Amino acid sequence: MKVLKELFDKNSEWSKKITAEDPEFFAKLSKQQNPKYLWIGCSDSRVPANQIVGLLPGELFVHRNVANVVVHTDLNCLSVMQFAVDVLEIEHIIVCGHYDCGGVKAALNNVRHGLADNWLRHVQDVSLKYSQELNQIYDEHKRVDKLCELNVVEQVLNVCQTTILQDAWERDHKISVHGWVYGLSDGLLKDLNMCISALDEIGDSYQNAVNNLFK
Ligand code: CO
Repeated sequence: MKVLKELFDKNSEWSKKITAEDPEFFAKLSKQQNPKYLWIGCSDSRVPANQIVGLLPGELFVHRNVANVVVHTDLNCLSVMQFAVDVLEIEHIIVCGHYDCGGVKAALNNVRHGLADNWLRHVQDVSLKYSQELNQIYDEHKRVDKLCELNVVEQVLNVCQTTILQDAWERDHKISVHGWVYGLSDGLLKDLNMCISALDEIGDSYQNAVNNLFK
C-alpha cells in the first residue's frame, strides 16, 4: 500500500473533478503559465492563497514563509520575485499577512521556538520600531493583530526597495505592490490601502498606511 494513500486518493478525485468540468484544463495549463499576480504570504495552513482569492492553478504565483517576511538577503524570496517580475511579467505583488499569526505572536512575546526565532527576529525589529505605539494597546489580541498589520506594511516597503522593483519601475514596467491582511475568523481580506505603483509613491504611501493604523 502506498504511503499517504489518502492524499493520492484525494489527488485522483481532484484531477477527475477538474477534468470533468474542463477536459482540456491540464493540457492547456501544461503548455504555459500566465499569472498576473505574485502572492507573498504566511506558510500558515489556514491561509491557502489560491482558495482565498478564488483563483485557479495558473493564475497566482506564490511564495510563502513564516510570517510573510521579505528579507533583502533571502535568495529564495528574491528569486521568486525576480522570476515573477522579469520573466512572467506579473502586474501585481500582494503581500498578505493574517491576523492571529503564530510567528508574529511569538516575535511579540519573545516565545522561543528554535531556529525560527532567527527568522522572526525581523518581525521583532518591526515591533521594536513601533514599541511605543504597540505598548499603548492593552488587549493582547489587538496588540498582536496590530503588529500583523504593521508587519505587512514593512514588508511591502521591503518589496518596493528591492533592486527588482526599483529596476522594473525605472524601465516603466507597470507593476503595483499591495498590502493586505486576512482574517482567520471570517475568511475576509482587509486592504491596508497601501498600493504602490511607482518609485515616487513609496514614501507617502508607507507613511499614510502607518498613520491609518494608529488613527
Ligand atoms: Co502566520
